[in-house]
Amino acid sequence: MAYLCPSFQNPMLELAPTKRHDEARQGEAFAPFAVDPVLYRRRFYIESYGCAMNFSDSEIVASILQAEGFGATRNEEEADLILLNTCSIREKAEQTVRKRLTEFRKMKRRKPGMLVGVLGCMAERLKAKLLEEEKLVDLVIGPDAYRTLPALIAEADGGQKGVNVLLSRDETYADIAPVRLNSNGISAFVSIMRGCNNMCSFCVVPFTRGRERSRDADSIVNECRDLFEAGYREVTLLGQNVDSYYYASEADAAPVTFALLLEKAALISPELRIRFSTSHPKDITDDVLYTMKRYENICKYIHLPLQSGSTRVLQLMNRSYTREWYRAKVDRIREIMPDCALSSDVIAGFCTETEEDHQETLRMMAYAKYDFSYMFFYSERPGTLAQRRYADDIPLDVKKRRLQEIVDLQGKLSHQSNREDLGKTFRVLIEGESKKDASAWKGRSSQNKVVIFPKGDTTCRAGEYVDVHVTSCTQATLLGDIVTR
Ligand code: SAH
Ligand code: SF4
Ligand code: F3S
Repeated sequence: MAYLCPSFQNPMLELAPTKRHDEARQGEAFAPFAVDPVLYRRRFYIESYGCAMNFSDSEIVASILQAEGFGATRNEEEADLILLNTCSIREKAEQTVRKRLTEFRKMKRRKPGMLVGVLGCMAERLKAKLLEEEKLVDLVIGPDAYRTLPALIAEADGGQKGVNVLLSRDETYADIAPVRLNSNGISAFVSIMRGCNNMCSFCVVPFTRGRERSRDADSIVNECRDLFEAGYREVTLLGQNVDSYYYASEADAAPVTFALLLEKAALISPELRIRFSTSHPKDITDDVLYTMKRYENICKYIHLPLQSGSTRVLQLMNRSYTREWYRAKVDRIREIMPDCALSSDVIAGFCTETEEDHQETLRMMAYAKYDFSYMFFYSERPGTLAQRRYADDIPLDVKKRRLQEIVDLQGKLSHQSNREDLGKTFRVLIEGESKKDASAWKGRSSQNKVVIFPKGDTTCRAGEYVDVHVTSCTQATLLGDIVTR
């Protein structure tokens, strides 16, 4: 996992696993972990890997389990049920999970009644094979089958292995109120759609998550409103390709597009920030851009994954845009919202990539002046179009060298972008104390940049907005002072 710019959130990318919840930051809310022994007969421990969709799914799973009398615990040692919500995006992601499973295998020998389940994309990719490969796994459940967890647990309690990896065309878990697991009580993810129809040739997601489907718009807006009323001040609308969100109900006269959904969410309150991820360059519309411009509380930040700057490679990747198309999108965003931040995902060393292709990627990054990027070298995934059609022919040392060049360039671009913010004032949502300095707050600007500033003698609290004047910066962070009104 090239985890290169950890201070910036990209909900579509591998986040640090929510592993030991007790390692979580001070001040985080853990309401669901207050286990009442009368209400909850058994305890579950869940660890999430991969993108924010998985983290969001774990909150659905927690809700399903709570209704069945399972209380969440942060301590794996006291769990009756251990669940790993897994990711298959790169080989490294799967290796991490396998390592964790060996640790749980040892634990299971000590605690024979304890159940271990694998959820998410690895469960979907490997299906029952996972039971052969990882002997002590009791449950294998794909992303569309979480409603069947209670029945499968009952089977596993009776000594059977429980497997359900059926993908669905309509499951969105729209009616399930997620139990917020590892929340700071200020920012939350809200799933707006599931699956992906894009079939980028390198990507395993269409196989592990199935067909794209959009969630009922009212249920999304209601969830955002409930979060706001519970004190949350930022929601991130999640989908693999949010711009193709489309929900038509019999009750509504007009179908809800992504632009309309954004507007509905923005209208809940000007004090609720709206973010979203991920946009596909081929699908993001002017309508979305103008809606973003119209509402101050829709954050001026777009994650617009490039993947490669070479049209030839983009075609092999099945990304359905060219270098020129991508450049025109960047121009359009800048024209409509000059203050909008841009970030990207970049893959180094995809099949047949030449030095010139690689240079084109670097040139496009410099053109787009990304504020930050998530950068990887290509990892061949079984069953994908690329694995079936093309040889993974770029040697690992070349992939790594190209990745390093991409990382170095991004470092410079991020630093430059931050330097351009010196002397400016940004509205910052306070997320909590700075990890390194208890006398400072950490928050984010609308552009998703981390801002650190002294608490001073003001009476601010996490969840409040303050104006911060930027006085200095590092490559990853803006530093400044509160502007007193
Ligand atoms: N739906 C999102 C991406 C989800 S996966 C989107 O289209 O942007 C997140 C990122 O992982 C991708 O954008 C891509 O850069 C990277 N990725 C996906 N498959 C990969 C692979 N096989 N090897 C290396 N990186 C990969
Ligand atoms: Fe994967 Fe492409 Fe779908 Fe993103 S848009 S999840 S990269 S297939
Ligand atoms: Fe997400 Fe990984 Fe699956 S990135 S969709 S958890 S393969």
